[in-house]
Amino acid sequence: MRDLLITCHRRYAMRVIALCAACVGIIALSGCGRRGSSAGKQAAGSGHSLPAITQGAAPIPPVGNAVRGKKLFADNCAMCHGNQGQGVKFVGQDLQTSKFVLSHSTAKIVAFIKHGRSATNPGNHRHIAMPPFGGNANLTNQNLYDIVAYMRKLQ
Ligand code: HEC
Repeated sequence: MRDLLITCHRRYAMRVIALCAACVGIIALSGCGRRGSSAGKQAAGSGHSLPAITQGAAPIPPVGNAVRGKKLFADNCAMCHGNQGQGVKFVGQDLQTSKFVLSHSTAKIVAFIKHGRSATNPGNHRHIAMPPFGGNANLTNQNLYDIVAYMRKLQ
């Protein structure tokens, strides 16, 4: 009888333990669920900050318009390089056959126009300065891309 009682107690104890384990399991699962949803929110939040990662990307350069560039070239460059970029004797050289224009990227030529070329620059053949246009308020970055688009048409 005593033995029977002990085995009964044991069985009861096992059931209690099993029940407790089940409870712990459910609590843990529901806890996980909650944590999971907050993790989900965090993931969504980090999704919002994605553009910040791409902020460092290089800006897309403007596309030059040769029609607008022709007028800008006539107003700012033609006095030294000629209306068709054919060059003016003893001043600005021929841009139609310029290897410099042919071999450099548009961005590089825009940078060149902004800085000019001093008379003492070793790359200056005529020993006359090409004036810098970088500080010219009438010539925006877009204007310079337009001018280069026109110069490319001349070649
Ligand atoms: C005051 C005269 C003058 C004006 C205005 C001028 N340039 Fe020049 N430019 C020069 C001279 C001089 C050189 C070349 C010097 C050298 O290297 O022999 C030159 C060189 C250049 C070159 C390099 C060509 C090569 O083959 O090395 C480019 C490109 C150019 N100019 C574009 C322009 C553009 C575009 C404008 C107008 C925004 C302009 N220039 C306005 C005088 C001028």
